Amino acid sequence: MSRTIPVGLGDRAYDVVVGEGLLDVAGRLIAPFQKRGRTAVVSDETVWRLHGERLTASLNASGIEALPVIVAPGEQSKSFAGLADVSDRLLALELDRGDIVTAFGGGVVGDLAGFAAAIYKRGIDFVQIPTTLLAQVDSSVGGKTAIDTPRGKNLVGAFHQPKLVLADLTVLSTLSDREMRAGYAEVIKYGLLGDLDFFEWLEANVAAVLARDPAALSHAVARSIEMKAEIVAEDEREQGRRALLNLGHTFGHALESETGYGDALLHGEAVGAGMALAFRFSAAQGLVTGQDAQRATRGIAASGLPTTLAQVAGHPFDAARLVAHMGQDKKAEAGRLTFILARALGDAYVAKDVDAAAVRDFLITEGATP
Ligand code: GLY
Repeated sequence: MSRTIPVGLGDRAYDVVVGEGLLDVAGRLIAPFQKRGRTAVVSDETVWRLHGERLTASLNASGIEALPVIVAPGEQSKSFAGLADVSDRLLALELDRGDIVTAFGGGVVGDLAGFAAAIYKRGIDFVQIPTTLLAQVDSSVGGKTAIDTPRGKNLVGAFHQPKLVLADLTVLSTLSDREMRAGYAEVIKYGLLGDLDFFEWLEANVAAVLARDPAALSHAVARSIEMKAEIVAEDEREQGRRALLNLGHTFGHALESETGYGDALLHGEAVGAGMALAFRFSAAQGLVTGQDAQRATRGIAASGLPTTLAQVAGHPFDAARLVAHMGQDKKAEAGRLTFILARALGDAYVAKDVDAAAVRDFLITEGATP
């Protein structure tokens, strides 16, 4: 059983297929997008060891040669050096515009391979086969590709939409429980930002989703992708509504900056805590009821994700330092910040001109040091 979710982007439209065992039919699904019977498969050592043979067999069965370009697992591959290395290896394989790149891995591989495809010979087609929950419900859909620089994450990149996304639910069985929870943050985000019914469904089914119950997982992933596809189709370049997808990310980014973007706090964990903080900050501002903010917090906490500063390694955090990490533009210097805040469960909005001092005071009430 699989479901196909279209991303309606005119001449850049594509399908996201969600289902079990898609790796075994990937060759057949990818075949229409390649012209020369070959694809460079960018993957990391872990994913390639676990699933490389299955993907290769399926590509070969459809007459497609798989040319592996394997990188080291982890964020450090998403760098200028990593990009240079992948580009050089694509050149060595004599990949040309009739060929495609297949990004086979989590968010790091998808962002890196996608950006390499965006600029390789001024742009070649690529397919995403995301292998983490987070990549399936978020980063593989929507065409954002990027690398990190020493000044910050995802600062150099391009919008480059894939030709196809294959989200195989069976590969999630090899994911650690911690990685599942981190991905779940981006799942519950969709309920919190725009779909109360989905949030309520997740309240009732969180255990089943995390246990990888096939029916529950399929609904959670498909509904998340459906919402992302709808938002991206409406606002591909994040001029407006797409910013809602950043719910929890401003608080989360500050926590990630303080904890070093590493194993101490995974991105999804930071987003989990960040969303709970965003709801409680909205309540402190009188925008949402305290009851809704508590229910949002409980919904996130039910997965085991952190929802308070005290649950994040590195606590107690310095309130002013956290706020300093939130300054996204020149305006922030004047003490105003942009946040995704909530009016209700399932009703988030982009709040510009949030007072940085109010955020700092709120963080102190949450246990940060003044
Ligand atoms: N991950 C946020 C976005 O794709 O816009």
